[in-house]
Amino acid sequence: MKKILVTGGAGYIGSHTIIDLIESGHQVVSVDNFINSNAQSYDRITEITGQTIQQYAIDLCDRQKLEQVFRENDFSSVIHFAALKSVGDSVSDPLHYYHNNLLGLINLLYLQKQYQVHHLIFSSSCSVYGNAESLPVTERTPLKEAESPYAQTKQVCEQIIFDFLKVNPTFKSVILRYFNPAGAHSSNLMGESPHNIANNLVPIITETAMGKRDALSVFGSDYPTRDGTCVRDYIHIMDLAAAHTGSVQFLLDNKARDAGTIINLGSGTGSTVLEVIHAFEKVSGNKLNYSLTNRRPGDVVAVYADYTKANKLIGWTPQRNLDDIMLSAWRWEQKRSAT
Ligand SMILES: NC(=O)c1ccc[n+]([C@@H]2O[C@H](COP(=O)([O-])OP(=O)(O)OC[C@H]3O[C@@H](n4cnc5c(N)ncnc54)[C@H](O)[C@@H]3O)[C@@H](O)[C@H]2O)c1
Repeated sequence: MKKILVTGGAGYIGSHTIIDLIESGHQVVSVDNFINSNAQSYDRITEITGQTIQQYAIDLCDRQKLEQVFRENDFSSVIHFAALKSVGDSVSDPLHYYHNNLLGLINLLYLQKQYQVHHLIFSSSCSVYGNAESLPVTERTPLKEAESPYAQTKQVCEQIIFDFLKVNPTFKSVILRYFNPAGAHSSNLMGESPHNIANNLVPIITETAMGKRDALSVFGSDYPTRDGTCVRDYIHIMDLAAAHTGSVQFLLDNKARDAGTIINLGSGTGSTVLEVIHAFEKVSGNKLNYSLTNRRPGDVVAVYADYTKANKLIGWTPQRNLDDIMLSAWRWEQKRSAT
């Protein structure tokens, strides 16, 4: 059986996806330089699945080293998660973001071409829609000017893939635009545990409840939304993982009509920051210490997905709701804080 190369497999979405891939019968190889993760992720995958992960501690920006991975393995597909993902950091250090996120993809595509690995699943983001004109966002919603260098790297990466596909007609790609992945695996053995400081709302909520942070700042309470706080679409990490397995299968079964297929992955429901906080308070029984503060540069007002296309093409429907996300995230936070 040909293997699947997962880049960024020690990271949050990559590690959960590897579990789903293994449980669906695939063989996986991971490449990760642990810039925002550590090798414990692999131990947790082994604990959950009973399988040891073949992995390389390599920076994707090092094409020579990356070539070793392609030389030593026979891949059917690549799932490319590895990227830097903090909107705020990308504003303060744009060159690091452009270098890492663009060069990683370019090196992969060179090697996919050289070694004839025809399928690429790419992690994109709803941030490419910027302040979308209409909601819910479909894949046809026009892209707006990127609000941050991070979002810009995703727009440019998508463009690089489409340009590559134009001149390499035997290659196919699925570009997955995630909305807000959150929550943890049901075993409580794995969840979001960033190496760098957490930037996403859900881990910030659980870290605050755990006492790791004094208080949570809600950035902006004067947006034109139902309670003045930003609206986002939260999608459970295991639902997201399943969509990757579905996308790989879609390509392996030759079901893709277009060279590049863009798919939104969200729950279809928008939640305000205050609604997420209240969902947490409900499922955990804890009161959260939070305060309303000024708007933050780079944030869009509201964004949530229409996932009809994901349902039609890869048969995907989210199975879990916001309460499931908050409960699993809270259990994981308690578990990781105790170890
Ligand atoms: N988590 C989100 O909210 C979110 C939302 C939309 C899109 N995405 C995208 O999904 C992908 C995965 O996100 P995540 O939340 O799992 O992030 P993560 O930081 O947990 O995982 C990314 C992994 O890639 C690795 N990595 C980064 N650059 C690398 C390089 N040059 N070489 C080798 N390894 C490298 C990191 O060490 C990390 O383990 C990213 O492309 C991200 O931009 C994430």
